[in-house]
Amino acid sequence: QILIIDFGSQYTQLIARRVRELDVYCEIHPFNHLPEIDASVKGIILSGSPCSVRDQDSPRLDLGQYRGQVPVLGVCYGAQLLAHVSGGDVLPAAHREYGRAVIQVGDEDSSLFAGISSGSQVWMSHGDTIVRIPDNFNILASTESVEVAAFKINEELTYGIQFHPEVTHSEDGKKLLYNFVVNICGCSQSWTSESFVDSTIRDLKFRLGNDKVVMALSGGVDSTVAATLIHRAIGDNLYCIFVDNGLLRKNEFESVLASYENMGLNIKGVDAKEQFYTALKGLTDPEAKRKAIGKTFIDVFDHEAHLLSDVKWLGQGTIYPDVIESVSVKGPSATIKSHHNVGGLPDFMKLKVVEPLNTLFKDEVRAVGSVLGISPNILKRHPFPGPGLAIRILGEVTAQKVAVLQQVDDLFIGGLRRDNLYEEVWQAGAMLLPVQSVGVMGDERTYENVVALRAVTSIDGMTADWAHLPYSFLADVSNEIINKVRGVNRVVYDISSKPPATIEWE
Ligand code: XMP
Repeated sequence: QILIIDFGSQYTQLIARRVRELDVYCEIHPFNHLPEIDASVKGIILSGSPCSVRDQDSPRLDLGQYRGQVPVLGVCYGAQLLAHVSGGDVLPAAHREYGRAVIQVGDEDSSLFAGISSGSQVWMSHGDTIVRIPDNFNILASTESVEVAAFKINEELTYGIQFHPEVTHSEDGKKLLYNFVVNICGCSQSWTSESFVDSTIRDLKFRLGNDKVVMALSGGVDSTVAATLIHRAIGDNLYCIFVDNGLLRKNEFESVLASYENMGLNIKGVDAKEQFYTALKGLTDPEAKRKAIGKTFIDVFDHEAHLLSDVKWLGQGTIYPDVIESVSVKGPSATIKSHHNVGGLPDFMKLKVVEPLNTLFKDEVRAVGSVLGISPNILKRHPFPGPGLAIRILGEVTAQKVAVLQQVDDLFIGGLRRDNLYEEVWQAGAMLLPVQSVGVMGDERTYENVVALRAVTSIDGMTADWAHLPYSFLADVSNEIINKVRGVNRVVYDISSKPPATIEWE
């Protein structure tokens, strides 16, 4: 594997994505929480950073322990750090350089630049620049404004590059990473979804033995794929629980439960609708609603887990971005949070945790799910929030409002599927507004609810744009909703981007 040492750059995850796209396994670790390095580490990549090596408190690392042992590639800050600690000079650039640049390859024989010619476009993003390199450094490439755009340290397989090979604007970035990871480090390109499935099931069998595992499933991609892997390893010693909180989409509970049963999972469906509606009674504040739902879920799950005996593990569908987030360079705050009140946690939270997907990115989870034969219906499903329709019903939640919103949502999502628009949008849903407006149906005046439709495009949900759905589609779906759903006489479409709006209305 390749070890990526993170100094806090916004691009670190992208480096990992690109290495994995070469079918080479890699892990990101923050510079201040590094694991023991063993023979499995074939090479090291040092990430960029928002800091400057000239600052006293910028991230530091004793690189002597790696250099000469395994190949090292410093990217941006990583390259500057290599130059700085070796006696070179790093200074603020005369003008900060962001964006496209063109490289001149100075050493055509360099393994790092094999197959990459002068004229190739690279992406720069730096305020500091290396102005002088030590004698034992060899310049491999330059740009018009940066002489030391890439270097190699003599007698070592240690390299530095000022540009970012991980962003797609660097034309030959992937080629350069291939040269480093495969040719220089000698990694085999054997890390595929199939190999992940095989080795994970083997590992889970070994770790879990005859132990029992309990796990809550949500119908979403991550928990479903995680449960399937664990089930392949330990069979019916995995006890799955799927809770109907009364806030799911129309028929979702029945249809997802049926697919879990078809998949052979040892699954128990728990009808807790009334418990959730009771907890939500009278609540209108969005945060209070979320908290009530979270607490009720824990109560229901704790009760169910206590009906099982001798359970040792809690299965979870945590994926890699959540892990990176919680052990980021910025500090271990997330870890502290989950441990500081262990005494007050429900019993199931004191179980050992098994998270088979905690090294995978979302699209890798989908690829693994597909190798496991999970239906595309589940794998391609839009994200759906844990608190469900409760945060799409503005104001107090009642069973009757849920029923109205389920019909609206079903017509909207059904329409998207029918018109082949479902996969074009990242997430879609409907909001039931606490607003009534006047309408006319036949000869009668109506005074009924307004619903808002929301569909967005996004990569990760952090930012989003409203989906530019065809007017004809919006017209059809609006008609259908007003004609078919009693209690709704007006449909509006949300055209706010995130930021400044959020995807959900609460
Ligand atoms: P916002 O509304 O913050 O949503 O733009 C971003 C993404 O997160 C989902 N979301 C949640 N998911 N529990 C969840 O599991 C929650 O409390 C929650 N709130 C928002 C939302 O559906 C969108 O995909």
